[in-house]
Amino acid sequence: MTDPIDRTGTSHRRLPDDDQRAATLRDAARVLDANWLGASTVPSRSLYPHQWSWDAAFISIGRSWYDEARARLELLTLFDAQWSNGMLPHIIFFNPAIPIGAYFPGPDFWDSRRSPHAPRDRPTSGITQPPIHAAAVLEMHRHAVDVDGSRAFLEAIYPRLVAQHDYLSRDRDPTSIGLPAIVHPWESGLDDSPAWDRLLKGLAMPPGERPTYRRFDTDHAEAADRPTDAAYDAFVYLAARYRDGGYDDAHLLDAAPFAIAGPLFSAIYLWSTHALAEIATMIGADPGPHREAAARIGRAIVDHLWDADDRAFYPRDLRSNRLEPEETIVSFAPLLDPDLPSALVDAVCERLESVCFHPDAPEHFVVPTYSVRSPGFDRRRYWRGPVWLNTNWLLWRGLRLHGRTALADEIANSSLALVGRSGFREYFEPFDGSGHGSDDFSWSASLAIDFIRSAT
Ligand code: SER
Repeated sequence: MTDPIDRTGTSHRRLPDDDQRAATLRDAARVLDANWLGASTVPSRSLYPHQWSWDAAFISIGRSWYDEARARLELLTLFDAQWSNGMLPHIIFFNPAIPIGAYFPGPDFWDSRRSPHAPRDRPTSGITQPPIHAAAVLEMHRHAVDVDGSRAFLEAIYPRLVAQHDYLSRDRDPTSIGLPAIVHPWESGLDDSPAWDRLLKGLAMPPGERPTYRRFDTDHAEAADRPTDAAYDAFVYLAARYRDGGYDDAHLLDAAPFAIAGPLFSAIYLWSTHALAEIATMIGADPGPHREAAARIGRAIVDHLWDADDRAFYPRDLRSNRLEPEETIVSFAPLLDPDLPSALVDAVCERLESVCFHPDAPEHFVVPTYSVRSPGFDRRRYWRGPVWLNTNWLLWRGLRLHGRTALADEIANSSLALVGRSGFREYFEPFDGSGHGSDDFSWSASLAIDFIRSAT
């Protein structure tokens, strides 16, 4: 398959030179080490001063290139807070330097003890995040220098990864479509993505059912960069509903007003299921069940999330059983399926290369998280337009799986150009490359390392 892309004149066509790459590697390690707490890494000292689940995985991938021991400890720390039903929480609260109340929603809000499955010795949130951990563990192992240490790590973490996947297939598939449901936008990792707008707008929030709360995020970042107050109202209401039901998944569709199977969460789940099969083989466990699961999940993504009319993948609202046809970054994630049929790869790439995601502007950076042609596109607000390095990294990996190297390289170069221009910011404006949200953001640093080290 030839890759038709051939653009000139945009900054992301320029490769960083050797000196720039060396400086990025050095500065990225400095950020990660400054954000290290002793057994885990904060995504950001100011905005996110605890441990986050998918952040920990992205952080470990990059850090493992220069400090394997800390990269492994990061994930072991995370999995130490796994619930007894296998649920891996999205936040682990154990930064003693952070007083209760400095981050919202903190441990008092989540009150994880309401679930009989939550660990008693460590406060956590009560929701999960995309299960990228098995894929991250495999990545780390592939370039490990300390092979014995890495193998021991694989053996220790494999049963926990399996429990995480078992939880998602057993307790999070209320309509038996073979894909895990998310019950909160925070579980998607893409909190205020327009992908959830229609559902959140339709949410009936009876007066008095939403707890009063105060946001702290806007003390640390510009309000225009963060989700709106209306989005936060919905986030808090949905989290409180799930919490007040004891985080019980038994009656998920009745209990959760928000239940979505989405292309990004599902594709990551699939990618990690393939990784589980490889890890099982390496440690002498049976890869068969993981291979069978991967084949099932791959089919389910196409059967339930592919819109044949639009020729695009979209999230499915499990309550109404309809697709949510917003043009967001999540539509591209099925590229992570190594077995995605080539006609679907072509369709996904065609959309990714369209002016909606490759604006026709003298200078721009890829990949915006929302179509720039959409009336709601917002060039600096969180997941409503800006470029993020983790979604870029995932698409880069997916494109390489399908031999789309020119488009993959463009995304990698654009990502490195952004951090070269604006530093390791949380996200970036797609037209001028300015940085927004937190500075010294851990996964931007970590993934910049991997973009450089994995390319050679
Ligand atoms: N991303 C959320 C926040 O902004 C938490 O997962 O705090």
